[in-house]
Amino acid sequence: MYYSDDILDQVRSANDIVDVIGQDVKLKRAGSSYVGLCPFHNEKTPSFSVSRQKQMYYCFGCHRGGNVITYIEEYNNMGFLEAVQYLAERAGITLPQSSISPEEKKSMSERTQLLEVNRLAGTYYYYSLRSAAGKSGMDYLRGRGLTDETMKAFALGYAPKTPSDGLYRYMKSKGISDDLLRRSGLMNVDQKRGTMYDKFWNRVIFPILDTSNKIIGFGGRVMGDAKPKYLNSPETKIFDKSRNLYALNLARRTREDYLILCEGYMDVISMHQAGFTNAVASLGTSLTPGHCALLARYTKKVVLSYDSDSAGVAAAMRAIPMLRRAQITPRILRLDPYKDPDEMIQALGHDAVKERLEKAQNALMFEIEITKRDYDLSDPEAKTRFFESVASRIAVLETQMERQNYIDAVCRDYLVDRKQLQELVTRRLVAGPSSRSGDEYESGHAARPAEQEEPSLDPAYDPAVLYGYDEGGFYEDEATGEMYQAPPSASRKNRTATVREQGDDISRKLLLNYICRYPSVYETVKKYVQPADFGGGLLTRAAEEIYAQMERSGRVEEASVLSHFTDTQDQAQIAGIFHTLDQAASGKDREKAVRETLLKVFAASDAGSGTDLQQVIQRKKLEAELRSLKLNL
Ligand code: UTP
Ligand code: MN
Repeated sequence: MYYSDDILDQVRSANDIVDVIGQDVKLKRAGSSYVGLCPFHNEKTPSFSVSRQKQMYYCFGCHRGGNVITYIEEYNNMGFLEAVQYLAERAGITLPQSSISPEEKKSMSERTQLLEVNRLAGTYYYYSLRSAAGKSGMDYLRGRGLTDETMKAFALGYAPKTPSDGLYRYMKSKGISDDLLRRSGLMNVDQKRGTMYDKFWNRVIFPILDTSNKIIGFGGRVMGDAKPKYLNSPETKIFDKSRNLYALNLARRTREDYLILCEGYMDVISMHQAGFTNAVASLGTSLTPGHCALLARYTKKVVLSYDSDSAGVAAAMRAIPMLRRAQITPRILRLDPYKDPDEMIQALGHDAVKERLEKAQNALMFEIEITKRDYDLSDPEAKTRFFESVASRIAVLETQMERQNYIDAVCRDYLVDRKQLQELVTRRLVAGPSSRSGDEYESGHAARPAEQEEPSLDPAYDPAVLYGYDEGGFYEDEATGEMYQAPPSASRKNRTATVREQGDDISRKLLLNYICRYPSVYETVKKYVQPADFGGGLLTRAAEEIYAQMERSGRVEEASVLSHFTDTQDQAQIAGIFHTLDQAASGKDREKAVRETLLKVFAASDAGSGTDLQQVIQRKKLEAELRSLKLNL
């Protein structure tokens, strides 16, 4: 399903970028544009600039930028289509539906219907909690220290004890069919009699929202000690437990550069109430590669904050390698002597928890500490095996410095001889990658010699393989049809660029910037350099569009150049072109700046740089001409 350029133009022009961004960021006028604190990274002085004229934004700190659609994609972590729909809705534009296939339509309407049922149920629970029938639920939540504001932020509710078919009757009053209710997962069905009862009953209700703030399921905690303590909606067409995280809809707005991963609903909620709004939890299931891929879309750093009991530790030991496979660096929050984050916050308060978060232990040291429990260190043989396993964990680290740091840390914590450990690590390094695993441990395998460990990185667990990211940077989520951006690991190409190439690209960007800013130079520029001379990649594509616009209308509309790029990383780069700062302010300096930039781009191009003598002479001639070129600016 794609929208035409016309539609996209219409959506863009109906959503002024300053208004849209102004809803989230406090903007101040500065010259012809607006500046504010960048919503995408932490900063104290504003380097985020929004231009009404160009209908673009750009951050000079983190180099993110784009048009209004890019902004919505980035800020709300939405796919492109979702962002377009969001903006269309905001401006009251009806998008054409004709390009949707009948199957898409059917499954969309199923989705829409289930979401509507959940929305109604959420409303019912919400008001029940705040009515007389909800007193015990309210007492319970207050007793756990939640404020009214928190309960509202998480849309907490209550499923009353009586009547036990309250939700069913409410749904009936809203005209919802039995069939739809059956599929919603909100009812238990008595097969014999064919009747339905509310699934949630005498429980406080935690609605589970997806990242578009739609209710996709519910968790319910029983009042008192009955079993099961927590009951969750079953998986439905709209509720995939392994692809959603509780509170991600809130946490993704954080300005921290990491997310906190907790075990339970209450942990997340008390974290948020204490000001740690970057906490999320998996939903009544243990962490899956799907969760990790989802996390990786938002951050490369996760602090694990699982319960300190043995189940929690085992879960953390499972989660760590899984997170690493998704290119996430895990750290571990120390909870002791408390059982879970909720208890710790109640006991210690914000500041102490903040300090613990900052000091969160590196996952490797945690793994080593936990593995140690499996070895009897008073037995010399077991001790050797333990240090061998430590050595293989350290040997997988990429840089010498990292390895050294961990060797130091282990020697300090475990009183081993530095030389000995160093030697074990070196031996593993020399032995090569086949014995360098360390990533695939399960706890409790003391008897397994380190040498026999499997090599890491099972392709089946690599999110890139699992979800089919390709080098293009986008992949389509089959479930929702949304487009997502692949994690940066998929496109490391830029990093290998030589300094020379980077310098060339800076000149190319500057030249494109000059064309947009001083359209009168275009006629001269195009005599010497063509779009193909902009390196052949992204900048060439940008140049093609800029040249085409110049030919058409004699001027360049920046936001519409951007709209030819769908990858948000590309868009940020293109936005960078229009925000390339040049010092050459006015008059003669400006002419010189443009001329020299043009010369550099020309020199870096292959135009006529063959071995053919004729071509070489021609090129020299053009170069000489360029040096004394007059530009009317
Ligand atoms: P816990 O038993 O640690 O729950 O399970 P908790 O959050 O500390 O609960 P409180 O504080 O006693 O209310 C952690 C998470 O595991 C899931 C829930 O998501 C819970 O928040 N869980 C637990 C279930 O899905 N079902 C259960 O029966 C128990
Ligand atoms: Mn707990």
